[in-house]
Amino acid sequence: SILGVFLTVFTLLLDFMKRRKKWSHYPPGPVSLPFIGTMLYIDFRNPHLSFNQLHKKFGNVFHLQNCWSNLVVLNGYKTVKEALVHRSEDFADRPYFPVYEHLGYGNKSEGIAVARYGHVWKEQRKFTLCTLRDFGMGKKSLEERVAEEAGFLCSAINSEEGRPFDLRFLVNNAVCNVICTTVYGERFDYGDETFKKLLKLFENSLNEEAGFLPQLLNEVPILLRIPGLPQKVFQGQKAFMDFIDVLIEKHMETWNPAYIRDFTDAFLKEMEKGKAAEENGFTYNNLRLVTADLFAAGSDTTSTTLRWAILYMLLHPEVQSKVQAEIDNVIGKERSPTMKDQVSMPYTNAVIHEVQRFGDVVPVGLPHRTYRDTELQGFFIPKGTTIITNLSSVLKDETVWEKPNQFYPEHFLDANGKFVKPEAFLPFSAGRRACLGEQLARMELFIFFTTLLQKFTFVLPEDQPRPRQDGHFALINSPHPYLVQAVPR
Ligand code: HEM
Repeated sequence: SILGVFLTVFTLLLDFMKRRKKWSHYPPGPVSLPFIGTMLYIDFRNPHLSFNQLHKKFGNVFHLQNCWSNLVVLNGYKTVKEALVHRSEDFADRPYFPVYEHLGYGNKSEGIAVARYGHVWKEQRKFTLCTLRDFGMGKKSLEERVAEEAGFLCSAINSEEGRPFDLRFLVNNAVCNVICTTVYGERFDYGDETFKKLLKLFENSLNEEAGFLPQLLNEVPILLRIPGLPQKVFQGQKAFMDFIDVLIEKHMETWNPAYIRDFTDAFLKEMEKGKAAEENGFTYNNLRLVTADLFAAGSDTTSTTLRWAILYMLLHPEVQSKVQAEIDNVIGKERSPTMKDQVSMPYTNAVIHEVQRFGDVVPVGLPHRTYRDTELQGFFIPKGTTIITNLSSVLKDETVWEKPNQFYPEHFLDANGKFVKPEAFLPFSAGRRACLGEQLARMELFIFFTTLLQKFTFVLPEDQPRPRQDGHFALINSPHPYLVQAVPR
């Protein structure tokens, strides 16, 4: 009991010492309890739902406290835009969480998505954008790769012969193949057992990163020293990195600097430049982490959006028919869709945008961190605060969208049926840390969606319940599994 009293006094003292200062004009928020802060207010499996409730109570800018870390949550279009666009650099940093060390990140500027704001991140982001953009260079352009994969996907769906099936694996496989060929020069046949295993590992690793335990490990990193705990908590992630190591090692064996086959080759060529390149982040470990980031950020996001798209077509068959009429009219039944068709297809374009808005695939974005002391809507936010951008509250902002909680493609059409994009359409976020793969993702969504609807009509199997419209959250918001029948057109 003496030990108990000692531990309680020690914890309260520690808490008192680490508690935030009382800044004037700091954003409001729920009452913070000793040691755990405001963690009880958050459902870590569905943080976006908790944020929406707190948003109603405390307004567009409110604070939270995870144990001793300060968090500020930004809600609604005006607030998020002011922070990410008008004060872009102030909000451009990322928090570094102690669990990253166990996810393979050796220092704070490795990878892209979680790298601290600074010189190395800038160099890596620039290199990645340029390399993805220039990928045409005499070889297959990215668009051709996507179109080719869409063809393989249709053949795989055809072989289901109209039986009810879950699209998830095939669509995931197709989207991952686009990233894998671009980054590692490898594609995997549908049904390839090793690849199925990788996708399962990847899914596990997303589930590992969501939830309460990783948050607790970040706040009390000493727990990471418990023998075997990190290995147990992050086993999916470790296996995923092992797989990436095999792909990179294969490159090293066949690498020829005179012939750049893919992103990994382009990176290896930069590494050859020696010390200066090393200072810009071109190291072997960073090759693993940058390419793993592209894989992680670019696969599930896009394939989940496509699964929402097909689910909404099942729930709104009249929308599906209108898209198909436009496809038949502009592209016809024989020719494959290309990006040039997009401007002549306002309705299809509006449907894809509405799928992204209503599907709300990355509801709480990625966490940012203030790079310096700053001010937002009259509130003071100190340097080093973790910032959550509630993108869901932007995509469903009641002051912007006519029917925020309904699937309504007309949000993106004017009175004459012309495509319009409201500024609050921010599924890719905005500012310096905005999604690096937006162009590729938009190309994939258009080419895959139009190719699928050109070839098939998607219907709900007779004996199946109506699929749920609400999602399942594990860093990204995905539909609950559903079965579909693809009827060839
Ligand atoms: C970051 C959304 C596809 C690569 C992000 C962020 C969002 C997002 C919300 C966080 C931005 C922020 O912190 O403010 C999406 C959606 C996609 C998609 C909805 C598909 C529909 C892709 C693809 C790639 C990619 C295909 C890869 C080629 C990245 C990277 C970052 C990022 C590397 C981190 C950027 C940085 O920190 O500088 N994405 N993304 N994303 N995305 Fe995407």
